[in-house]
Amino acid sequence: MKYALEAENLEKVYGKKVVLHNFSLKVKKGSIFGLLGPNGAGKSTFIRIVSGLEEGDGGTLELLGAKAGKASRRQLGVAPQENAIYPLLTCMENLKYFGSLYGVTGKTARERAESLLTQLGLKEKKDVIANYLSGGMKRRLSLACALMHLPKIIMLDEPTTGLDPATRIKMWETVRKVVHDTNATLILTTHYMEEAEALCGRIAFVNAGTVVAEGTPDELKKKVGKEIGKISTVPGNAENVIRIIKGMGAIDNVTETEHGVVVEAKDIAKRLPEIAKVLVKHGETVVEMSVSSPSLEDVFLKMTGLKLREVAKAENVKRNWRGERA
Ligand SMILES: Nc1ncnc2c1ncn2[C@@H]1O[C@H](COP(=O)(O)OP(=O)(O)OP(=O)(O)O)[C@@H](O)[C@H]1O
Ligand SMILES: [Mg+2]
Repeated sequence: MKYALEAENLEKVYGKKVVLHNFSLKVKKGSIFGLLGPNGAGKSTFIRIVSGLEEGDGGTLELLGAKAGKASRRQLGVAPQENAIYPLLTCMENLKYFGSLYGVTGKTARERAESLLTQLGLKEKKDVIANYLSGGMKRRLSLACALMHLPKIIMLDEPTTGLDPATRIKMWETVRKVVHDTNATLILTTHYMEEAEALCGRIAFVNAGTVVAEGTPDELKKKVGKEIGKISTVPGNAENVIRIIKGMGAIDNVTETEHGVVVEAKDIAKRLPEIAKVLVKHGETVVEMSVSSPSLEDVFLKMTGLKLREVAKAENVKRNWRGERA
């Protein structure tokens, strides 16, 4: 069996709202796979369907080579987006409880819990009730609870949201080690591009309920293709800047990002001085200009910006910006 997870044409509809549509994904056994996409894209819905918390409205799903069902889901460990821990139980009690749901009890449970608490930096909090942990500690406890039964497929929904930078990097190491030591497959969602790049062998971009691109980080970056120019200006009237640059002709795309305005055009490096001149003429002062190869964030913006319209066009269905059918 090559794949730990195979989803084909999954559908999920809430009332009139299409949340997953033609959602297809294959995740190789033993790999670390990232799901990226804007808020509301359908990532958590996909995870809920895989974990059996919700039923899909169509499509097929296989886990470890078998149709998803009670048996195959015993091999699944899920840490949902909202922490799944009991606030009035201590860390140790939480871990033992979640272990027991999967038949992990007694000495095995105690030893595994101790080991997870140590790996996740919660050793000192062993007998503290979960309610008294900091936000980042609760997040780590929730992850530990998902790992008690040594699942073969681990699904982590934004595992590092709310963690400080040092703890986040430590978490990456722990997660890598767990996957390696237990020969598991990991599927995670994240909004941190550097995290996806550091951890994931392959990534799928999800937009408006469907997978719009999939590949290794390098493959995905190549899809964006050309070099891009980034320009920061003062006063930085983005709307104005975009209009001016677009008006210069032979510009493929201009987008506003938190790091300035990103311009795509042939030979962008050669054209930047000319762009700067025009911007200055229109009352903008250029404070920074750079040319760079596409980053994963650029892929994100491209895939999730353009494709929404393309998906709607392909289906001949009108959707609003949230991906809802009109
Ligand atoms: N029980 C529900 N009833 C109706 N709509 C729902 C329900 N659960 C989720 N949705 C909708 O489905 C869409 C996808 O939500 P989902 O939580 O899967 O997004 P996400 O990709 O995980 O986003 P985020 O990055 O913000 O976590 C959203 O528009 C959400 O409002
Ligand atoms: Mg989510």
